[in-house]
Amino acid sequence: MKTLVVYKSKSGASMYYAEEIARALGGESRHYRSIPREGGYDLVIYAAGVNGGKVDSLAAMKKALAPLGKRFLTAASCLREPTGEYRREVAKKSGLREEELVLMRGRMNMARLGIWDRLLLRMVRAKIDRKAEREKTQEDREIYNALSFPTSFTDVKYILPLVKKARAMEEESEAK
Ligand SMILES: Cc1cc2nc3c(=O)[nH]c(=O)nc-3n(C[C@H](O)[C@H](O)[C@H](O)COP(=O)(O)O)c2cc1C
Repeated sequence: MKTLVVYKSKSGASMYYAEEIARALGGESRHYRSIPREGGYDLVIYAAGVNGGKVDSLAAMKKALAPLGKRFLTAASCLREPTGEYRREVAKKSGLREEELVLMRGRMNMARLGIWDRLLLRMVRAKIDRKAEREKTQEDREIYNALSFPTSFTDVKYILPLVKKARAMEEESEAK
């Protein structure tokens, strides 16, 4: 199956996942500023971070990428735990069907971000800080730490649901 994975990445998580996904599916991975002009892909995957509850730059990237392939999927990395419930929330906010989105736990390096992103994330960190100690969840503590020191939760295991999805699509099209 001819597969293209395009990434946009602020802290490197989506770049890492794009490369792992491309390797697993035998496809190619490209930065979003060097998208191939020619289409003809069976599957195009957009990999980017979750920003403010939705996939970064999804509308514009989907418009540019969907015409290049028969199918389009989104692989988004986030700091929150990638639970089914959070996936539903992000899909809804991003205007995607749930089955079009795979969530993977990402990484954070505040020093790599622009000033506005840093300001916004400092507000997120301050909000966690204001919570009473007993009200803080494990996830709150992990996010607080990631917003204080460079942290990575990336793990190749998170690409498995997407790899399975892509293989199922391949079998489906071979059966036709
Ligand atoms: C401006 C901004 C907003 C973010 N909002 C969220 C969020 O709502 N939920 C979440 O889980 N992570 C959020 N994050 C964290 C990123 O999703 C996480 O760091 C991800 O791994 C980034 O992927 P990238 O390194 O490929 O850009 C945000 C990061 C930034 C910079």
